[in-house]
Amino acid sequence: MTDEKPKGVSMDTDRDDAADLTPTVTLARLYEEQGLLDKAASIYKKLLAMEPERAELKEALEAIEKSVTGSTLQHEKFDTKTTLDHLTGWQRVIRERKKMLDQNHEKRQKILVIHGPNLNMLGRREPSVYGTSTLEEIDEEIKKTAEECGMSADTFQSNQEGDVIEKIHEAIDGYDVLIINPAAYTHTSVAIRDALLMLEIPIIEVHLSNIYRREPFRQKSMIADVATAQVAGFGKEGYTIAVRAAANMTHKA
Ligand code: DQA
Repeated sequence: MTDEKPKGVSMDTDRDDAADLTPTVTLARLYEEQGLLDKAASIYKKLLAMEPERAELKEALEAIEKSVTGSTLQHEKFDTKTTLDHLTGWQRVIRERKKMLDQNHEKRQKILVIHGPNLNMLGRREPSVYGTSTLEEIDEEIKKTAEECGMSADTFQSNQEGDVIEKIHEAIDGYDVLIINPAAYTHTSVAIRDALLMLEIPIIEVHLSNIYRREPFRQKSMIADVATAQVAGFGKEGYTIAVRAAANMTHKA
């Protein structure tokens, strides 16, 4: 063995990327969680230089050195205990990383998408106006786009005004953004307008067609002035545009 130093752990504490950051246990753990073991080791060394008696710092540093030694010095022989210690160390890192990912997953912003009457017939309903995609395909696209934006989306369709209203009520506490295409109720429903007035979250009104180029009765939306924004005339793309806009709105908030 020519080089006694484990390659993964820097023995040189006066030169590393973490040099400009205040060394704290939290920072060291963060580096550990990200698998940046040399940086974590460097922080533990600095902390130990200030507080040499702190046993947990020594233990953490030793665990890192052991695990890095185990993974980099291939020609070194291990006994079972060293190998197990090494594996346990990595299991801990993986567990903590998974916990962090799960917590982030739970914290994701939630979008509710409501489709009003007759939209369950998309694909067969006036394809020249509303396109050939089915609602199922559109919902899939919505969920995929939400995931890409680090959000989650629930979708709902009903032909009943009361069901739409009750779903809006669910958004009061349960969601971060509402995307709604009230379909024909857009032009008639004071009740849906009133339900939307209760929400304090962003509301994005979506229409597949450009309602302002259609019959006069469609040019009036009962909810346009209650909504935060409106997307109309982009066909099914309107929904993915709305999801991306929702991500921008909530990430800024
Ligand atoms: C619609 C437009 C409404 O006028 C119509 O009643 C619909 C769909 C749209 O998405 O373009 O059902 O909301």
